[in-house]
Amino acid sequence: MVKGVIFDLDGVIVSTDELHYLGWKHMADSEGIYFDREINERLRGVSRMASLDIILEKATKTYTDEQKVALATLKNDYYKQLLSTRLSSKDILPGVMNVLDGLKAAGVKIAIGSSSKNTPTILKQIGLDKKFDAVSDGNNITNSKPDPEVFLKAAQFIGLDPKDCLVVEDAEAGISAAKAGGMKALAVGSAITDKRADLAAADLSMVSVQQMINL
Ligand code: BG6
Ligand code: MG
Repeated sequence: MVKGVIFDLDGVIVSTDELHYLGWKHMADSEGIYFDREINERLRGVSRMASLDIILEKATKTYTDEQKVALATLKNDYYKQLLSTRLSSKDILPGVMNVLDGLKAAGVKIAIGSSSKNTPTILKQIGLDKKFDAVSDGNNITNSKPDPEVFLKAAQFIGLDPKDCLVVEDAEAGISAAKAGGMKALAVGSAITDKRADLAAADLSMVSVQQMINL
């Protein structure tokens, strides 16, 4: 029986994919580095600096650590500008509000477990900054997914044993992290075909609260 549900943010609670893509595309274009949506898919769930390393596989020159920080900052500044002008509660994904309210009504704890350092900004922008019992994100971890740290911290914040928690993820790296942490996993969106998940659905409107609790 599931006592707590830990939600990834990007691609599970809210659709930020396009804005992340535009941010990285802006950076890649400014450096003349080839970047497309297929490469963008590989960045799902991966930390900002690890994402940059994936993009730089296509670069023709090598970059110092200092230059890499400047490139990641260029992307993030552009991305934050897009978040502030384009993101709203309309971008909350289908089924999310029903599931969050249903879990709360059933006495199940809800938390965020995201690699994103922009998590507080995003939650505020979509009006969900007071909705969760705890938030674990890129600001309180040293190891990014597929390492389970972000989920283990979330479980700790809501006072639960990892085995009593269900993780909801749209990324392969996130499903790996959930499993490495000894948690159950519900795969949504892009992760729907991941065989390691205990349950899979196109989005949260296709899953009932009872199905989640009974896992
Ligand atoms: C994850 C996204 O949630 O956060 C990744 O799926 C992103 O694509 C990562 O790279 C880090 O995000 P941020 O906002 O800290 O750059
Ligand atoms: Mg995600």
